Amino acid sequence: MVSFLTFLALSLSTLLFLVFLKRQLYCTCDVCHCYLKSQWSTNYNNLCDWYTHLLQKSPSQTIRIHVLRNTITANPTNVEHILKTKFHNYPKGKQFSMILSDLLGNGIFNVDGDSWLFQRKMASLELGNVSNAFANVSCHVQSRLLPLLSSATRESDGATTLSARRALSASPLIWKANRILNMGSERKLKEAVQNVNFLIEKVIHQKKKVGFTKNQDLLSRFMVVSDDHTFLRDVIINFVLAGRDTVASALTSFFWLILNHPEVESKLRLELDQLMNENQEFATFEQVKKLDYLQAAIYESMRLYPPIQFDSKFAVEDDKLPDGTLVKKGTRVTFHPYAMARMETIWGKDCKEFKPERWLKGGIFNQESPFKYPVFQAGLRTCLGKEMALMEMKTVVLCLLPRFSFRLVNFDGELQFEPALTATVKNGLPVIVSERSVASH
Ligand code: HEM
Repeated sequence: MVSFLTFLALSLSTLLFLVFLKRQLYCTCDVCHCYLKSQWSTNYNNLCDWYTHLLQKSPSQTIRIHVLRNTITANPTNVEHILKTKFHNYPKGKQFSMILSDLLGNGIFNVDGDSWLFQRKMASLELGNVSNAFANVSCHVQSRLLPLLSSATRESDGATTLSARRALSASPLIWKANRILNMGSERKLKEAVQNVNFLIEKVIHQKKKVGFTKNQDLLSRFMVVSDDHTFLRDVIINFVLAGRDTVASALTSFFWLILNHPEVESKLRLELDQLMNENQEFATFEQVKKLDYLQAAIYESMRLYPPIQFDSKFAVEDDKLPDGTLVKKGTRVTFHPYAMARMETIWGKDCKEFKPERWLKGGIFNQESPFKYPVFQAGLRTCLGKEMALMEMKTVVLCLLPRFSFRLVNFDGELQFEPALTATVKNGLPVIVSERSVASH
């Protein structure tokens, strides 16, 4: 009986797939062929590296993957057009929210219009206050991260990876059929989302128990205005993903780069030594703001390894990008911070090198246009947690670098990433951590 059902399920998905192939235009151009047959993986570790290669070769810095109905650009003028000038023509769109709806629900990442605006306003009240958050973060790093390093543990959540797989399907029909049939990665995603929901329900329950009316944290703010558990669940999961996976990704690449560039590590240690008084254990918020080299190193590491490597919108109406590329209504437009970092036209001949100095003018950190560096997105939907993220990263580096030495083990070559929503390093970054002697602090 089971094998008959499996046979039936497989036949049905094959049939649906064939219908899709007939209905959709099946492009046989070299790029689409290479995509559909995954031939790019012979020469590239990551899909992003292949896209980068195509974008570098394109005179307009824009390419099309016809089978995905996707226009991909690494052109800063196009990015400004999409994220700012024609913001209302490029919402997230229904296609995107469908892919992520099981995990993100109606949370800020997955909605447009009034619901987005409402959540953005609510969240900006909380996320704007970085100096308050500093004490919290600093305390958590000291009381939890530092002790944790001795007993290196790792926890991972597959729901984002499984959701991201949907976006790689040539047609939504494929993952939707699997969802109906509860098969393959869709079955695993369902289980992962159930686990996430269970944990979140516990958090809401706990918050209700301790009271939330006076508590000025993000969840409390939302609980004051809504009692809808589904909505609160969506708020929580969106902010957990926004704030946890991105910073984790950024820190992983940062440490990998530092370990491969001892000269940068030395300059960081020197900057920290000069800033802190002899007997001071932890930096203050005011001191952290003065760390220009650290800020430059963090920006530079996220330039090369943006935690969100690319981001897509869907065109409401036909449009023409500033470089002349035509965009059809209902199709996808993607801008690609990972590829943009590797464009000589944007960052010069040394674009592939890790050089914090490119962010410094006379030793002082110097901001670049967010459309050239859309790591935190840009325009009206710029990341709300940017300052918080930078402060968290600096706090972690400040606490770890003086106390520990790190050595990479069994890790050669370039970073490889899982196809997840945030750039997750495949198999993590294996390091040996050892405490530095007190004299060397
Ligand atoms: C290095 C760390 C981070 C990076 C690189 C980053 C990057 C981004 C990007 C690219 C977006 C746009 C996503 C999209 O619309 O598709 C975004 C949105 C957002 N981020 Fe961050 N983020 C980081 C950390 C954080 C933190 C710590 C928080 C706070 C908890 C946060 C809160 C948000 C929120 C609320 C949005 C949605 C904004 C909106 O749609 O209006 N982010 N972030």
